[in-house]
Amino acid sequence: MRFDIITVVPEILTSPFEASILKRAIEKGHVEIHLHNLRDYVTDNYKQIDDYQFGGGAGMVMMIEPIDKCITALKAKRDYDEVIYMTPDGETLKQGIANELSLKENIIILCGHYKGVDQRVREHFVTREISIGDYVLSGGELGAAVLCDSIIRLLPGVLGNETSALTDSFQDNLLAPPIYTRPAEYKGWKVPEILTSGNTPKIEEWREEQAYARTLALRPDLLSEEEK
Ligand code: ADE
Repeated sequence: MRFDIITVVPEILTSPFEASILKRAIEKGHVEIHLHNLRDYVTDNYKQIDDYQFGGGAGMVMMIEPIDKCITALKAKRDYDEVIYMTPDGETLKQGIANELSLKENIIILCGHYKGVDQRVREHFVTREISIGDYVLSGGELGAAVLCDSIIRLLPGVLGNETSALTDSFQDNLLAPPIYTRPAEYKGWKVPEILTSGNTPKIEEWREEQAYARTLALRPDLLSEEEK
């Protein structure tokens, strides 16, 4: 899988891919991340990528031309499945979106800045708009990193244990059950006995019950009316 990320601050997007699981995913060839500095696609001497809003109003707007040049140059080299624009008014990122996007091959991610991009970019180039939550960040870069992480960890071979992404919270619209490791008792605080019983079917049943109970208590919005 390949991500081409268009940004005015590529430095924000270097470190997330230089450590741990994402770094290894790149090294093992599961994913390629290519950062594109929008300023490299500006023809004027001032390297201007934004301008005042038509009609007035506070805040600068990212101009269409450099974005067009960058996306067109990328599309000349390969086909893209999606051009995603990171914006607080996009659809909120959910596990289901990460699952769906993990099946794609080539994705362009455009990071917004200032007030955002000229509306014509959204109308003519963007295929999908994603927000990582109902709050406003200073730019789309951290959102892009979050989106990439949520997708890359799902790619086959990226996580050591193939089943571990499937047992994450949200994978079946349930929160994950509580987890424990050694020691079985610490300062008098004990691990639930069932988990050390060796009775695998009973353990599975306990985990399902716990996942359901936690979801009902903490995130009832994830359950359908019949499930409540
Ligand atoms: N850019 C600014 N805020 C954002 C958000 N919440 N999600 C995605 N991109 C953003």
